[in-house]
Amino acid sequence: MTDIAKLQSELTAAIEDADTLDALEAVRIAALGKQGSVSALLKTMGAMSPDERQVQGPIINGLRETIAAALAEKKAALETAALNARLNTERLDMTLPAPETPRGTVHPVSQVMDELAEIFADMGFAVAEGPEIEDQWHNFTALNMPETHPARAMHDTFYMTAADGEEPRVLRTHTSPVQIRTMTSQEPPIRIIAPGRVYRSDSDATHTPMFHQIEGLVIDKGIHLGHLKWTLETFLKAFFERDDVVLRLRPSYFPFTEPSVEVDVGYTMVNGKRVIGGNDGWMEVLGSGMVHRKVIEACGLDPDIWQGFAFGTGVDRLAMLKYGMDDLRAFFDGDNRWLKHYGFNALDVPTLSGGVGA
Ligand code: DAH
Repeated sequence: MTDIAKLQSELTAAIEDADTLDALEAVRIAALGKQGSVSALLKTMGAMSPDERQVQGPIINGLRETIAAALAEKKAALETAALNARLNTERLDMTLPAPETPRGTVHPVSQVMDELAEIFADMGFAVAEGPEIEDQWHNFTALNMPETHPARAMHDTFYMTAADGEEPRVLRTHTSPVQIRTMTSQEPPIRIIAPGRVYRSDSDATHTPMFHQIEGLVIDKGIHLGHLKWTLETFLKAFFERDDVVLRLRPSYFPFTEPSVEVDVGYTMVNGKRVIGGNDGWMEVLGSGMVHRKVIEACGLDPDIWQGFAFGTGVDRLAMLKYGMDDLRAFFDGDNRWLKHYGFNALDVPTLSGGVGA
């Protein structure tokens, strides 16, 4: 047997015998390490004559490849064995409940928006969006609030700094501009809701500078106040999950609707708390009306062909009424105790069949 063949059988036997990863590593170093036996042979090639190298080269390189392959194979086998041994000793009982783990909650505003989307989707409404930084035409002018209109001042608007010569944009004061964006980008018939953030310079227990509204818009032929009333009644019954929700429509004024109605829901006093249903007293929940001809015209539609109704309401307020919070400011404090108490489980997805009330 040549020296090389002898070395190969010795190393192969050592690899075979190594029964731990450490032992195998020691064999690897002894063979292929800087001072290793195979490395030493490789170095001898430098001093060989070309003829000799042609014969010895492939043999020595073959040795190195064989040993490297044997080492890799043994390493993989040892690792698999180690993993199997570990898996045999580690057990996790998947049927046990998880221990107290930190858990986030879904904010009531998000939950209520999901509930609203679910309820209105069932009535054939799509969800529409618009920008929070809005131009004055969409936020006011097209909604029949010209520059001189007193309602503009009533909105406590946040104005942005304008580029030279440009009209300042505003943080949208309501979700109503989404009505305009939808009517100018979509062909009627239209049935949308638009939930989102709105901004007004106002702050106390029931007002925050940022709050949430949801807008509704229907544009079609032959739409009348009866459609509006049915839609709102169906929505409020589904939202409060009670059949005894009573609505009261009061004549009102909004620049973008004619006629305009404010909608109250009846409540009953139960243990000193207002509970929706019955008619011991009334609470205002919505603004609405038939879309003003001028608004339809501003969007390039013919009001003699297309009519519709619109409504808007505060999402935060709906959440407060349904889930019993009494200070709006706490909604945006990010206090974990509040979120834990009023927040919803992420798996508690509102569905009509499962109940939108969570
Ligand atoms: N945009 C009104 C507000 O912020 C709410 C509103 C009232 C929206 C009547 C409507 C509507 O669509 O028809 O106070």
